[in-house]
Amino acid sequence: MHNWNYQRALQIIEECAKSSQVLTSALRQLVDDFGYIDDAAIAPLAKAFLRSKAEVYGAIQYYSDFRDSAPAEHILRICQAESCQAVGSRKITKLVTTKTGIALGQTSSDGQISLEPVYCLGLCANGPAAEFDGNPVAELDEAKIDKILSGIRS
Ligand code: FES
Repeated sequence: MHNWNYQRALQIIEECAKSSQVLTSALRQLVDDFGYIDDAAIAPLAKAFLRSKAEVYGAIQYYSDFRDSAPAEHILRICQAESCQAVGSRKITKLVTTKTGIALGQTSSDGQISLEPVYCLGLCANGPAAEFDGNPVAELDEAKIDKILSGIRS
């Protein structure tokens, strides 16, 4: 992942548009390269894909993988789908919120951790499921949360 670079972003957008890829392909590549889609990319995306800026914003907001701000150093995603809810994902999410001071969808003020919802990670039989920095975590409990948070703090 690289820091935001306007020229590189324009290059990605132009390459996607020229090769007849769809808007979401360009958004995916921007997120893969930079971790997020900077506001500066909205107008070039709209122009390249013949969309309004509102449509581009709408696509970014619609897909949970597309973020419009720089990600935190670490990302903890906790499954909020039904199977995980049935085994306590809401309770475990509240516990993380209590321990970190951030709610779902928020990033800590020091930029160390983001807490995000996710809707099924394919670990339904081992919920509550989560993903920490891209790695699956089955049966998330307080001990695992403490281990994750202490790793971040150290
Ligand atoms: S419902 Fe949580 S992993 Fe499938």
